Amino acid sequence: MKAAVLDEFGPSSVIQIRDIPKPTVSDGKVLVEVHATSINPIDWKMRDGQMAARFGEDFPMVLGFDCSGVVADVAADVSGFEVGDVVFGRSDLGTGGCYAEYAEVSAGTLVKKPDQLSHEEAASIVLVGLTVINGLIRCVKVQPGQKVLIVGASGGVGTLAVQIAKNVGAHVTGVCSGKNADLVASLGADAVIDYTQENALETGPYDIVYDTVGVHQYDEARQALTDDGIYLTLVPVPGIDFFIPGQSEFEKGKGYFVAWTTLTEDIEQLAAWVREGKLRPVIDSEFTLDQIRDAHERSQTERAVGKIVVRVRD
Ligand SMILES: NC(=O)c1ccc[n+]([C@@H]2O[C@H](COP(=O)([O-])OP(=O)(O)OC[C@H]3O[C@@H](n4cnc5c(N)ncnc54)[C@H](OP(=O)(O)O)[C@@H]3O)[C@@H](O)[C@H]2O)c1
Repeated sequence: MKAAVLDEFGPSSVIQIRDIPKPTVSDGKVLVEVHATSINPIDWKMRDGQMAARFGEDFPMVLGFDCSGVVADVAADVSGFEVGDVVFGRSDLGTGGCYAEYAEVSAGTLVKKPDQLSHEEAASIVLVGLTVINGLIRCVKVQPGQKVLIVGASGGVGTLAVQIAKNVGAHVTGVCSGKNADLVASLGADAVIDYTQENALETGPYDIVYDTVGVHQYDEARQALTDDGIYLTLVPVPGIDFFIPGQSEFEKGKGYFVAWTTLTEDIEQLAAWVREGKLRPVIDSEFTLDQIRDAHERSQTERAVGKIVVRVRD
């Protein structure tokens, strides 16, 4: 099968498109014929070698956590899936493996794709959507009427964070540059702040500051928070605690780094919001698998508006 493969860490030029053996399906797994995947910044951080301590150096390496496609094989111990099912989800295996024509994915991290979404759109919402659900809903438990400041509201995470915070009834202020203000307002933000013109941290107090791009220090963000307010970041910064669901106790008036978790119920929730018309993907750009180096370079500009997607098959 064709795949985008790393034999070493380095710049985008280290990504090679070539044939590698098709995975076979093992216990608990489903083999997905991948139609689309998406780029997450973690992909190029892994490609550069920044994440080697966590993800290892096991070459050849195939990246890509998000996928949408068709079930090609199902392990004997897996129920609920049949060959031909149209699915989307997130690989929780090693380095991902979805930059390929076939990916082996745990059955618990795949669900049926909503008909409303193309494969490219479905692949765009998974890792980022799981991140927002884990942070805003599971960790912070955002409540209707709470004031939420979303920094990076035009990015891959931010475009979903605005919509998800609105879905639970929060009052949302999105922070983006002026060129993306109309988009962020169209996603439901009650107010939009152009960070090139105004310091959003002087517009509080907010119950929650969700810094999806990690541009503020916690000490700096405190001025924008109520006494009980929570600062949530996706990039570790000084002064925060690491929140791990099931292991961490959540306390008001603190700052947390919260990563994604991969739970079937959360992927089902994303699909349900799509079916109800409460969540829409925002696509920055589309590339083919052969163009994946360009897709990485686009992501590394850190200027994407929504998600960068990769068509693996036409
Ligand atoms: N810990 C986790 O589990 C987890 C999960 C997902 C993502 N992340 C991390 O979170 C970060 C964001 O991910 P992403 O996928 O959303 O990235 P992204 O899509 O590449 O973010 C790009 C967006 O960031 C905006 N931006 C850049 N600087 C900004 C600033 N100073 N203020 C406001 N907006 C700004 C840009 O808008 P302008 O062009 O208008 O500036 C652009 O729309 C990455 O570092 C990623 O690795 C962590």
